[in-house]
Amino acid sequence: MPLTAIVRGVSSSINDCELSFHTRQSIDVVRAIAQHQAYQNCLVELGVQVISLPAEPALPDAVFVEDPAVVVDEVAVITNMGAASRRPEANRLAEVLSRYRPLRHLAEPATLDGGDVLRINRAVFVGLSRRTNRAGITQLTDVLAPYGYQVRPVEVRGCLHLKSACSYVGNDTVLVNRFWIDVEPLCGFELLDVPEDEPAAANALHLNGVVIMPASFPKTRELIENRGLRVRPIDLSELQKAEAGVTCSSVIFNDKSTDPSS
Ligand code: GLY
Repeated sequence: MPLTAIVRGVSSSINDCELSFHTRQSIDVVRAIAQHQAYQNCLVELGVQVISLPAEPALPDAVFVEDPAVVVDEVAVITNMGAASRRPEANRLAEVLSRYRPLRHLAEPATLDGGDVLRINRAVFVGLSRRTNRAGITQLTDVLAPYGYQVRPVEVRGCLHLKSACSYVGNDTVLVNRFWIDVEPLCGFELLDVPEDEPAAANALHLNGVVIMPASFPKTRELIENRGLRVRPIDLSELQKAEAGVTCSSVIFNDKSTDPSS
């Protein structure tokens, strides 16, 4: 089944983005747009069909389309994001996703960001973080459990999202910064620790046998390559200033399309 990725252009207002653990630094918008374009090109090179939505200039974080939705083969769950400023980002995305999946919605008191959701087959790990609360995990469980998904909470303590601290890189291996999360729920997977001097390197995107990761983490790259995994480094320096990793800028799903026009 081919993979489809939804992405959205970088907002001209990205310098007003939410920040939780990062100190604000000036983002070069032109450079950020070029890096985002290179990210899209990388997805296309790896065989992914990319749906590129126009930027939302009034929504600084709207490029981070991973957060307003969690998409599995059966449904798309529209989240209620932890940062109130970001909630309007979900509207347009929901409209597009409704062509591919039936929609479900999380509602108050639940909060949940897609960046807190790591799915590995039928196991769905969900970060209990500053953005995602217990009600969010409960509501997500209620939606996904009937389809056979096992939702497992993971405590997040030192970073924005669960996937800031861990991501799946193939071969039953999870790249992890264990200082930022409780790794106990990940038992059963091989854990590959990022070097202490590259603490933000645990966010990578495993696609069609290739691990996409920021070029700024050469030691982590070497660790992954030493496992026989293929790495595709990309320059994400400007989006990293907005507290982003490689997974944040796309929402990726199997295209078993229900879109009558496709
Ligand atoms: N700037 C990404 C976020 O805080 O949601």
